[in-house]
Amino acid sequence: MTIPSSQQAVRIAPSILSANFSILGEEVRRIDEAGAEYIHIDVMDGHFVPNLTFGAPVVKCLRPHSKKIFDVHLMISPVDGLIEDFVKAGSDIITAHVEAGPHLHRTLQAIKSHGVKAGVSLNPHTPIESIQHVMDMVDLVLIMTVNPGFGGQSFIPLLDKIAAARAMIDAETARSGRVIDLQVDGGVNPETAKQCVAAGADLLVAGTAVFKDGPEKYAENIKALRG
Ligand code: DX5
Ligand code: ZN
Repeated sequence: MTIPSSQQAVRIAPSILSANFSILGEEVRRIDEAGAEYIHIDVMDGHFVPNLTFGAPVVKCLRPHSKKIFDVHLMISPVDGLIEDFVKAGSDIITAHVEAGPHLHRTLQAIKSHGVKAGVSLNPHTPIESIQHVMDMVDLVLIMTVNPGFGGQSFIPLLDKIAAARAMIDAETARSGRVIDLQVDGGVNPETAKQCVAAGADLLVAGTAVFKDGPEKYAENIKALRG
């Protein structure tokens, strides 16, 4: 029996890491109006990754600016103690890294216990098999195509890994009927976006490629990523 692909229409999640932080609420409204489906929120702790951004209080302040899906990418370690804060701040999806600690299963359980969606993210070097035994818990799989920490880096062509994640997701969807997003994050531009979608991705994160050339271009930039 051939398992039908569960790949969905391509959706775009602009990363506000590349936005103007002095007017973040306004920037979120602009990308919402420009057609973004998800708002990708990069949380960095200066420990798990060598950079700092913001925490749950900022997410809470941004929440009234958009009704779109708040997709919170936690690049922090440890994770568990801060989950409740991010839930209360209005996150719709909370994604934790496989590499953030020894107890990924517990972290995903904790996220799901709050009734929000749970995502799992893999650094470029981490084998896709590391999430095999949590596939029944996740709503989103995030393949990092840069080493996390900074915007504006070059795309690492992990297309075989994206394809392997697609196969795992399709198997889980065939088994349980659950829809799981396959997200790619890092160095996504109109050219690399095509490659990611061909490999099976259906949710593309982009910072530089969305925010370049100013607010008048956001809609055009988002459209260009859809291929
Ligand atoms: C990197 C972040 C990404 C980043 C993407 O650690 O997770 O979301 O903002 O930026 P670009 O699209 O510029 O590579
Ligand atoms: Zn991210």
